[in-house]
Amino acid sequence: MSKDLLTYQAVQDYLTGLVPPREKELQEMEAYAEENDFPIIGPVCGYYCYQLARMIGATSVFELGSGFGYSTAWFAKAVRKNGGGTIHHTVWDEELSGRARRHLVRLGSADLVQFHISEAVDALKKTDGPFDIIFNDIDKQAYPASLPVIKGKLRSGGLLIIDNMLWSGRIFDKTDISPTTLGVQEFTKQITNDPDWIVSLAPMRDGMIVAYKK
Ligand SMILES: C[S@@+](CC[C@H](N)C(=O)[O-])C[C@H]1O[C@@H](n2cnc3c(N)ncnc32)[C@H](O)[C@@H]1O
Repeated sequence: MSKDLLTYQAVQDYLTGLVPPREKELQEMEAYAEENDFPIIGPVCGYYCYQLARMIGATSVFELGSGFGYSTAWFAKAVRKNGGGTIHHTVWDEELSGRARRHLVRLGSADLVQFHISEAVDALKKTDGPFDIIFNDIDKQAYPASLPVIKGKLRSGGLLIIDNMLWSGRIFDKTDISPTTLGVQEFTKQITNDPDWIVSLAPMRDGMIVAYKK
């Protein structure tokens, strides 16, 4: 394929094809998300989170905005391989928390997961750290205010992973002044201008920032 014909979608489809086969339960979660238009990180970013967690031997992970547990399942798989530990699942919706628990039970990972039904940044403030990985996927207008809290709870040498940093391309639209788009733009500015972080943005799916805390 020539460079001119290489579309963003073609790249995403190619990346999806490189992800190894995954459990039936994970595939069912992906199908549910697709049918119900529920935003999950999907297999490419899920596998990337798994890889990052394996690479640093993560045993403590705090997730902000965990939905029905798809991203949690990838972190749990890595933490199990790393010898065990804890993944904190946070969502403010009781029904979603229960749904996540049922999926994680079926995946054999529920023993590693602590479930918080709460506003996620509040839950992080109240939970003892430091964590090896903090994963942020809450409502985008809340991203900027979450950063100082996250920074205080992540260990030196730990990773912050943040989803939706391309925000379906809305970050490029100068006329878009919605709180969510401004939240993603502001957060990107904050973290890339802070010398305490080493930051890169991987253009997988909707864009994932991985930031290493020095
Ligand atoms: C994008 S979805 C999560 C998807 C999940 N990380 C995954 O990839 O499987 C975000 C979820 O977190 C919830 N949420 C958003 N902001 C939140 C907050 N500040 N505190 C708690 N839950 C939040 C949303 O209602 C939604 O269920």
